[in-house]
Amino acid sequence: MNTVDYLRISLIDRCNFRCQYCMPEGAELDYILRQELLTNEELLRLLKEVFIPVGFSKFRLTGGEPLLRPGVVELVRDIASLPQTQDLAMTTNAYLLAGMAENLYNAGLRRVNISLDSLHPETFDKITGSRGRSRWQQTWEGIQAAYHAGFDPLKLNVVVIPGINEGEVLDLAALTIERHWHVRFIEFMPIGNAELFGERAWVPSEELRQSIREHWGLSAANVRGNGPADVFQIPGALGTLGFISQMSECFCDRCNRMRLSADGWLRPCLLNENGQIDLKKAIRLGIDTADLREQVRELLLIKPEINFKQRDSGTQGTYTRTMSQIGG
Ligand code: GTP
Ligand code: 5AD
Ligand code: SF4
Repeated sequence: MNTVDYLRISLIDRCNFRCQYCMPEGAELDYILRQELLTNEELLRLLKEVFIPVGFSKFRLTGGEPLLRPGVVELVRDIASLPQTQDLAMTTNAYLLAGMAENLYNAGLRRVNISLDSLHPETFDKITGSRGRSRWQQTWEGIQAAYHAGFDPLKLNVVVIPGINEGEVLDLAALTIERHWHVRFIEFMPIGNAELFGERAWVPSEELRQSIREHWGLSAANVRGNGPADVFQIPGALGTLGFISQMSECFCDRCNRMRLSADGWLRPCLLNENGQIDLKKAIRLGIDTADLREQVRELLLIKPEINFKQRDSGTQGTYTRTMSQIGG
């Protein structure tokens, strides 16, 4: 059985972008109320008394957009300074990163994954739902700031959408040749808004690899990370290329993570809520954390069954949630 030691912690379900594939129109209606968010104190207590004792040591802060969470720098400092934290990372859209990168680095965050679906401001704005002033430049500045602050590895996530940014794959891959950046191509997952892109919704990673191979060649490579990306490199490049292929390849059997939602639900699988535990309710009711540790241990034991059920049972489970609610 796989070791499950990676916890993806959603800090907030709100986002300052409206990426079509993640947060369709109207998603605001279901926002978690502020008093329903786990507080920093509750989150730290859960980490210290529940998650770390049962074996979690790698943490990723996600959203919505995690930089919108009040007190995020202090939270980073607290989690980074726990002696058992082996890895602390964040997934962000980088829109607010230029002003925060140094503080986050100084607080102990060491790596960030940033969504960048296009190098063209117009396409970027179309995908991210920007109206009025373009958001591309500020995002790009956030990426540069992360690089200059010293985040390493610095990863850029690209969700490949047929007919929209598919034609930019070589340009995005080229970013890795002379920069120490790591670009990852993600197969679009039809979650929450499946109807949006019609029948040909996603591009198989192997198709992308083929065109990159024809252009430059492609060799196997490595980069630090806990996720399911298959990593390659353009020969001689400084950075790497990752492929996250959840549609063309099932990687549930090597799943090493669980998710904690911003309102305190512990979920064993991205696509399946079976077995989920309401940890916020439990700690607010004063339930002993020793009992919670037992409940989480039990969930870890049944997780493999839940992982696979997800594939067998198709669209059940969290498919009704948007990605911004799940935390990517
Ligand atoms: P590293 O530690 O740097 O490897 O990060 P990561 O790839 O785990 O994190 P990131 O937040 O950048 O996630 C990138 C993409 O991986 C997400 O957009 C999802 O598409 C996919 N992904 C992450 N976790 C899961 C999962 O549990 N199941 C599936 N099917 N896809 C996942
Ligand atoms: N399919 C695949 N990836 C997605 N992301 C958001 N929605 C989807 C989806 N439907 C990605 C974002 C971000 C990461 C956390 O999740 O691009 O990089
Ligand atoms: Fe926000 Fe990221 Fe979702 Fe885009 S993909 S709407 S940036 S949470």
